[in-house]
Amino acid sequence: MTSAQLFVQSPNLRYGEKFIESDYEYENVRCRRDERTNTIQVQATRTAVTFRTQRTVPKFGLMLVGWGGNNGTTVTAAILANKHKLEWETKDRVIKANWFGSITQSSTILLGLDERGKDVYVPMKDMLPMVLPDDIVLDGWDISSMNMADAMGQAKVIDINLQKQLRPLMKDMQPRPAIYAPQFIAANQSDRADNVLRAKDKWEQVEQIRRDIREFKSKHSLDTVLILWTANTERFCEVIQGVHDTGENLIAAIKRNEEEISPSTLYAVASVLEKVTYINGSPQNTFVPGLIELAEKNETFIAGDDFKSGQTKFKSVLVDFLVSAGIKPCSIASYNHLGNNDGYNLSAPEQFRSKEISKSNVIDDMVESNSILYGQGLSKPDHCVVIKYLPHVGDSKRAMDEYESELMLGGKSTIIVHNTCEDSLLASPLILDLALLAELFSRVEFKIQGSEDSTFQTFNSVLSILSYLCKAPLVERGGRVVNALFRQKATIENMLRALLSLPPLNHLDLQFKCS
Ligand code: NAI
Repeated sequence: MTSAQLFVQSPNLRYGEKFIESDYEYENVRCRRDERTNTIQVQATRTAVTFRTQRTVPKFGLMLVGWGGNNGTTVTAAILANKHKLEWETKDRVIKANWFGSITQSSTILLGLDERGKDVYVPMKDMLPMVLPDDIVLDGWDISSMNMADAMGQAKVIDINLQKQLRPLMKDMQPRPAIYAPQFIAANQSDRADNVLRAKDKWEQVEQIRRDIREFKSKHSLDTVLILWTANTERFCEVIQGVHDTGENLIAAIKRNEEEISPSTLYAVASVLEKVTYINGSPQNTFVPGLIELAEKNETFIAGDDFKSGQTKFKSVLVDFLVSAGIKPCSIASYNHLGNNDGYNLSAPEQFRSKEISKSNVIDDMVESNSILYGQGLSKPDHCVVIKYLPHVGDSKRAMDEYESELMLGGKSTIIVHNTCEDSLLASPLILDLALLAELFSRVEFKIQGSEDSTFQTFNSVLSILSYLCKAPLVERGGRVVNALFRQKATIENMLRALLSLPPLNHLDLQFKCS
């Protein structure tokens, strides 16, 4: 399907040569609860904002940390398969390359109604100028020296007939030597570490990563580079005062070669110093307070943590449905088994602990939203997460969940879900979306009308707008974590609409009800 071009006709929208400029009324509600009188004062607020989005799409490079892993090879294969419009035969049928599972490429947004009262949808990618996946230039690091064609074979994710076509396109892609600190990932990963950056200390490692970024950028004449961690899950680092707490202390601690600074934080520091957006697709605490401060000082974007791909995505829909229906989930038991290298790494207790923390908090906002259900007695559901390594199932992760809920008058509802999550085929479209949306939102500036500061500024360094794609969303200081999936999706959709001066979707359909 060829996409229709979108033209918004509004006195509040200006299509300039460089920018799309939108005047937008941000309507909100502020509440004040008075415990003494047991009242809530509610006030409607309005703020006039002007947004502007740069129209020129940059020449864009994506560097993956853990490029040779299952996700890294799969997203590379998907970009190339789509770019070259590849088709391949399976025992069922001929498959054509696509981007199913990517919201930018394969989801649509409801724009409004046409003259016959029918809904008009457009692909998300056509709302505003976005990088085309076909144009992404790829590079990355891996502790394994295996070329990308062999690594794709090792991952056993891509259909063999597609692999045969992709091999010539991937065999010369070679991951750069990577920062390796064996104490942060499982000991069972040491066998693949034959492509390790030789540097005398941690600061020299940061300097080398910075050189790699600059070299990649200049080699391909790129305008923008983005770095995304899709390497093994690290153990949480112990956050230490004087080491991780401020930007200055963090840099000084790296220069002192402090032990407790993880490789992922070193890559993130290098990115921030190069003013390159950094996204964390794994659960570990890469974004220590000092790193966040450094990103703010350098006006660089960061986002994370942990891709929200299969089981968690489903959980954040089901629990939202139950709690918002007035049904009380009392226990949630989640069992996973998987047989890929991610599962092998997670079979070590400290790395599993990172994942367990990330997976455990994903229902908190939904539970807190309903004090009728959770006001007395059980304050939150019992929630347990188990992950086991079972080599035979490979990348085809199995997630089994049992939700037990309380119905009216002491009734019980038990929902059992068995979900086969083809792990890397779910995560790779998220990598694309994270990269494309982060790039788009880094081209957006805003100015609050009537405020003393009349200059345009960029969004906060922490891109919480990408929460839809993250299991444990990192949010701005003072911001709140939202896990409910459709609320997260609405945030992205309504922001894209705001950039075009369109109101958020309210689903009131008053034109019919009041006719
Ligand atoms: P994988 O184990 O296949 O790939 C990880 C790659 O990182 C390996 O090639 C490894 O050699 C490399 N590596 C390890 N430490 C490195 C370092 N310091 N620098 C550079 N490279 C390094 O894992 P997979 O399946 O690709 O997953 C990647 C990450 O994404 C994992 O942390 C996983 O927990 C996370 N994730 C994956 C999801 C999915 O559905 N696939 C969902 C949520 C998170």
